[in-house]
Amino acid sequence: MDGNKQHVMFVDDEQPILETYERMLRSERREWDLHFAPDADTALQIAAQHDLDVIVTDIHMKGKDGFDLIRALQASERTARIPIIVVTGDTKPTLKRRALDLGATDLLTKPLNREDMVARIRSALRLKAYQDQVEEQVRTLDTQVKERTRALERSHRDIVWRLAKAGEFRDDETGNHVVRVACYARAIAQGLGAPADFVNTLFLTSPLHDIGKIGIPDSILLKLGPLTPEERKTMQQHCHIGAAILSTEPRAVAVARHREVSGQDSEGDIPRNPLLHMAMAIARHHHEKWDGTGYPDGLARDAIPLEARIVALVDVFDALTSVRRYKPAFSLEKSIEIIHKDAGRHFDPELVAAFDHNRSEIVAIHSELQEAEAYWNPLEG
Ligand SMILES: [Fe+2]
Ligand SMILES: [Fe+2]
Repeated sequence: MDGNKQHVMFVDDEQPILETYERMLRSERREWDLHFAPDADTALQIAAQHDLDVIVTDIHMKGKDGFDLIRALQASERTARIPIIVVTGDTKPTLKRRALDLGATDLLTKPLNREDMVARIRSALRLKAYQDQVEEQVRTLDTQVKERTRALERSHRDIVWRLAKAGEFRDDETGNHVVRVACYARAIAQGLGAPADFVNTLFLTSPLHDIGKIGIPDSILLKLGPLTPEERKTMQQHCHIGAAILSTEPRAVAVARHREVSGQDSEGDIPRNPLLHMAMAIARHHHEKWDGTGYPDGLARDAIPLEARIVALVDVFDALTSVRRYKPAFSLEKSIEIIHKDAGRHFDPELVAAFDHNRSEIVAIHSELQEAEAYWNPLEG
C-alpha cells in the first residue's frame, strides 16, 4: 500500500467499461487509488510500479487474455498474493472453474452492479490487509529467531574459547599452539571441500583437544625427561578426561531428573550444543591412529571421526615445527617429511593429500603464528 490509500486496478480492453468503473466508484476515490489498464501488458507494468491491493480483470481480451494475466501475476513473487477478481459475461461453469483454479479470488458476472462490486472489492481488500499482516508477523518472527540463534551461537563460541584458555594454563605448550591447530585444521577441512558449518565448528572446537590435561597431575604433566610406562598411561587419560568434561551426558541426566521431579518434558528448553558434540569427539579421539594402533579406543580408518583425524594430523605437525621441552623446532621440510612418512600409518592419507594441496596456506599460518619466545633448553631434558 502506497500512503494511506489502497490501490485497486481495473483491466478491460473495452474503454467504455473502464469508464463505467470510473463513474461507479467515484465516491470510493477518497479511500482508493484507482488504476485503469486497457490490456494485460499495461496491467503488468502498473503492477510493477505500484503496490496493488486488488485487481479486477476481464477474461476475454484481445492479445493476452485474463488467464495469461493471472498466470504472469502468480509467477512473480511481488504480485503473486494480490487478490484477483475476475469479471465475465460468460456464465459457463468451466470458465469459472478455470479462473478459480488459476488462483482468482472471486468472480463477478456482468452486468455489473455497483453495490455488489464495492462489496466484493472491500472483502478482497480485507483479505489483502490480513495477508500483509501475517507476512509482517512472519518476517518479524523470522528476524527474532535469527537474532536469538546468533546470540546462542555467540555464547557457545564464547564458552568454548574460555575453556580452551583454561586448558592453556595447564599445558607446557604456549597459547599459540591451540590457535595454530585451529587454523591448520580449518585449512585442511576447507581443502577437503567440507561444508562451511563443519569447517567453522572444527575451527572453534579443535583448540579444546587437550582440555583433559586439566586433570593430569603436575608431576606428570610438567615432568622433564621421559615418562615411565605407568606415567604414560596416566597421561593418556587426558583423552577420557577431556571427553568427560565436554560430554553432554550430565545434561541428559539432568533432563531425565527434571522430568521425573516435575513430570514435564524440558528437552525442548535445553538446546543441543553442536560445538560440544564435535569438541568431545576431538578430545577423545585425537590420539587415534589411521592403522588402529593409537589410543584410547584403538579405532582405525573411518571409524575415527573425521574431525579427530584432522586434529591428529595438525597437532603432530605443530608439535614437530615447534619448540618443546624435550625437542627443538624441526624445520618445515623435515616436519613435512615426517608427516609424509606416516601417511597411511598414523595419518589418514587423504588428509595428508589435502595438507599438501593447501601447503602454501599452512606455511603462511606457520610463519604468521610463530612463537616469539623459544624456551627449549637441550640441557633440561
Ligand atoms: Fe592430546
Ligand atoms: Fe596439542
